[in-house]
Amino acid sequence: MEKTLLLIKPDAVQRNLIGKILSIIENEGFEIIDLEMENISREKAEAFYSVHKDRHFFSGLVDYIVSGKTVIVLLQRDDAIKYLRQIVGRTNPINAVNGTIRNMFGQTLRRNSVHASDSKKSADYEIQIFFKENT
Ligand code: CMP
Repeated sequence: MEKTLLLIKPDAVQRNLIGKILSIIENEGFEIIDLEMENISREKAEAFYSVHKDRHFFSGLVDYIVSGKTVIVLLQRDDAIKYLRQIVGRTNPINAVNGTIRNMFGQTLRRNSVHASDSKKSADYEIQIFFKENT
């Protein structure tokens, strides 16, 4: 079994999509190991997205993620990291395949509803930011 991290971002929380997204996740065979909802601090957001710190969109990304509540979900499944990325879909909702979460709910590249860890290394790093006891 492998662990991965899902964020349900402020745009999706604000549009009452938490239940719909978690239902998709559960129906796809993921076990929800832990979950919390918080207003992520700027410090945590900057650490979480530190891989993008030199990109032009970094400050806008951090401003957006701290703008409202985010649901942080620790998940487990066989091949969890790759499988979650598949059902989440491409980063820009315009490019996301029909039926993927970002295709169904994403609004723009920034307001793309969810984040999913993209590798074992980033999953380990991202999980310990929110769930220290699970690493
Ligand atoms: P996420 O999977 O959370 O990882 C980093 C986020 O940065 C990504 O989703 C997008 O929402 C955002 N992002 C990536 N590329 C760009 C870009 N070119 N302009 C604005 N935001 C971006």
